[in-house]
Amino acid sequence: MALPPLTGIPHDLVAACDYETRARRHLDDNAWAYLQGAAADELSLRNNLAAFQSIALRPRVLRDMRRGHTRCRLLGDVFEHPLLLAPIAYQRLFHPDGELATVRGAGVMGAGMVVSTLASSRFEEVAAKASAPLWFQLYWQGGRAASLALLRRAEAAGYGVLVLTVDAPLSGIRNREQRAAFALPSGVAAVNLAASPTMPPLAPGDSAVFGGMMALAPTWADVEWLRAQTNRPILLKGVLHPEDAAQAANCGVHGLIISNHGGRVLDTTPAPLDVLPEIRARVGADVTLLLDGGIRRGTDVFKALALGADAVLLGRPYIHALAVAGALGVAHLIKLLREELEVCMALSGCASLSEITPDRLYLPH
Ligand code: FNR
Repeated sequence: MALPPLTGIPHDLVAACDYETRARRHLDDNAWAYLQGAAADELSLRNNLAAFQSIALRPRVLRDMRRGHTRCRLLGDVFEHPLLLAPIAYQRLFHPDGELATVRGAGVMGAGMVVSTLASSRFEEVAAKASAPLWFQLYWQGGRAASLALLRRAEAAGYGVLVLTVDAPLSGIRNREQRAAFALPSGVAAVNLAASPTMPPLAPGDSAVFGGMMALAPTWADVEWLRAQTNRPILLKGVLHPEDAAQAANCGVHGLIISNHGGRVLDTTPAPLDVLPEIRARVGADVTLLLDGGIRRGTDVFKALALGADAVLLGRPYIHALAVAGALGVAHLIKLLREELEVCMALSGCASLSEITPDRLYLPH
C-alpha cells in the first residue's frame, strides 16, 4: 500500500537520490514501473548517468566569488537558475494534485516548467497556478489541424515557448518489468486531448510501424509549417544528431533539447551529454541548447553547462520529490540542486554561468 505524500520535509532528505529512495514507498508498483522504466535493456538510461560520472572537475582556486550568481536568460525570460522541469506525462499518477502541485513547487523556486501534451490536469488550470514561465510540450497529434488546436489553446493560456518532441513518434520496446502493458488507473487521463490520433487502415502485409504509427508522425515539412503558425519560440526536443541540429536551425527553430527521452524510447543511443559538444560546435553560439537525461547532482548541471548547454531539465528526480511531498518536495528538490550547483561553481572558481567553461572539466583521453 503506497503511503500518502508527506506534509513536511524530513531531515534525511538532502539530495535527489534520497528522494528517489523515499519515493518508492509513496508509489504503487504500476506508477513506479512507469516512472523508473526505460526502453528494452535500459542501456541508454544507465549510460545517461554514467556519462556524468566519467567526467571529472578541474577547479580553479583563490578567485573572488562574492558577487557570484546563477542567473541566466533563455528565449526572452530571465531565470534565477538554469534548472527547468522536463515534460512528464500523467502526473496525477504520482500525486493527487499532479501538475497543479508541480507548478506551485516550480513557482516557489522560479523554475520554468514544460507541461506535457499528456498532462493529467487541464493546461488552463496549470497556467492559473503558475508564477514562473510555462512552456508547452507538443506531441504531434497525427495531423496539422489537431496539433494546431492544442497549440492555440496553450498560447491562449499564456504558455510562452513551444517544445515539439520529435524522438517519440511511437512507443519504445518495453523492458522486462513493462512486459504487461501499462494501465492508467481510473481518474488519471490525458484530459487535454479529445481523442487519440487514429491509425490509418493497414492493407494486408503492411507494416504496423511504417504504414501505421509512422504515418501519424511529423516530418521536417511539418516543423517548417508549425514555425509559420506561431510567433512563440520553438524548441525541438529529442535531437541527438548534429546534422538534425543544423537542419532545425535552418528551419528557423530557436533551440533544441538534446535528449534521448530519459532512455525511454530507443535503447542504446549515446548519452545527451556525450553528443552535446559536437552539436554545440555544429550550430554555433546563437542556438539555445538545453539538455536532459541523467541530471541528479549540481555537478551534473555544471558539466552540461561546461560542455555547451545553456540550461538543463530535470526529469524523474522532480517526480520523486512530487510523490514524496507534493509542491513542497518539488520546491525543495530544486533548491537542493541549485545549492549544489552554487557550491560547485564557487569551488571551481566560476562566479557566473558564463564562466563555466570546458577547461573546468578534466576529460579522460
Ligand atoms: C517522460 N518524458 C516525456 N517527454 C516528453 O517530451 N513528453 C512527455 O509526456 C514525457 N513523459 C515522460 C514520462 C515519464 C514517466 C518520464 C520518466 C519521462 C521524458 C522527459 O521529458 C525527459 O526527457 C527525461 O525524463 C529526462 O531524463 P531523466 O531526468 O528522467 O533522467
